[in-house]
This record gives sequence, structure tokens and C-alpha cells, in this order.
Amino acid sequence: MKQTIVVATNNAHKLEEIRAIAGTAYNILGLADIGCTVDIPETSDTLAGNAIQKATYVKEHFGYDCVADDTGLMVDALGGEPGVYSARYAGPGHDSAANMALLLERMAGKTDRRAHFSTIIALTEGDGVRLFEGRVDGTITSAPRGTDGFGYDPVFMPDEAAPLTFAEMNAADKNAISHRGRATRALMEYLSNASDR
Ligand code: IMP
Repeated sequence: MKQTIVVATNNAHKLEEIRAIAGTAYNILGLADIGCTVDIPETSDTLAGNAIQKATYVKEHFGYDCVADDTGLMVDALGGEPGVYSARYAGPGHDSAANMALLLERMAGKTDRRAHFSTIIALTEGDGVRLFEGRVDGTITSAPRGTDGFGYDPVFMPDEAAPLTFAEMNAADKNAISHRGRATRALMEYLSNASDR
């Protein structure tokens, strides 16, 4: 019988991507498919803590194995900020432009501009949780460049694609080296090997 896995997202694009890679051995459902309409709590101060919290919430309340992720941008000169608070760095209700503006303001005059994105994916398994990580290293630019992508893409220049920022790359090129791409491929490799067992 096919194993059912819930992906803790309402993003149809994310679901389709995972369905395509997971193949026919898995029945991949989104939160809407299981009638989960609540805002799942994310109260941890680590990416792994939040990913585990979301995945286990679904397992405990709905009974399905679940995959959940959390991502952050860690800037060395800011002691790892914005990190787990990347989405709301400039405060609740602020957008990416405000988050980037605050980041560039705090980076003014800093010579160490090293940073990395990290994505942690948690997969519930029986009574435990398995974690997958993806990371990309780079630097923070002095001003935004490019119009593609989202979030901090215009101010992040990945080492492997310099001098381009993420926002100057097409989606396929970004996915090939990105934190999320790497973590998702690690999960998919695990799932496809598991489905052969
Ligand atoms: P989430 O956990 O995927 O929702 O990511 C949290 C926050 O990190 C987002 O709101 C963005 O601000 C930032 N972020 C995550 N992934 C990316 C990316 O690929 N590029 C730029 N910013 C990102």
C-alpha cells in the first residue's frame, strides 16, 4: 500500500514539485487535503525546532507522517541574524523590502559580509523525526540587485554564481545550488531509496 505523507504547506507549487520527485510510491497531500486550516505554531528559536514542531503537530493532530521545513539567512557579522526571524526581521507585517533595508542598514560599514542560507526539513518517522539540511554560502551585497526570486534574493550573492545575486538568476539555476533545492533533494533521495526497500 502507498505511504501517505503530508507536506506542511498550502503552496501548490511546492506540493507539485515534491509529488513529481517522490514518484508513484507516495501519496503526497497538502494541509488543505487533510482539512488542516489552523496556523501551525512555530515558536522555537531554531530552524530545526520549528520544522520539528510543525511536522509533529500534523502527526499528533491528524495522524499522518509529515514533512515540514524552515529556512533562514544567517549573517556572520550580525551574530547569525536574521536567522530564524528572517521572515519578520523588520517586525510583523513588514515585507521583504523592509527586511532587506534593515539588513543593509545593519551591515553598513562592515567588511565581513559572509552569510549563508539554511533550510531544515523534518520528516516524521514512526515515533521519531529525521532531519535533512541544505545550505548555500555567499556574501551580502552593498545594494539590492536583480528582480527575480523573493525575500533576500537581491542582496545575496552565492559563491558558486558570483557576481550574480540570487535575484539575477533564473529559477532553475537558483534551485540547482540553493539551500531549499539541496535540502529537498536530500529528502527526495531518502524517500526514493526508502520506497525501494
Ligand atoms: P520560509 O521558512 O521558507 O518561509 O523562509 C523564511 C524567510 O526566509 C522568508 O520569508 C524569506 O524572507 C527568507 N527566505 C527563505 N528562502 C529564501 C530564498 O530562497 N531567498 C531569499 N529569501 C529567502
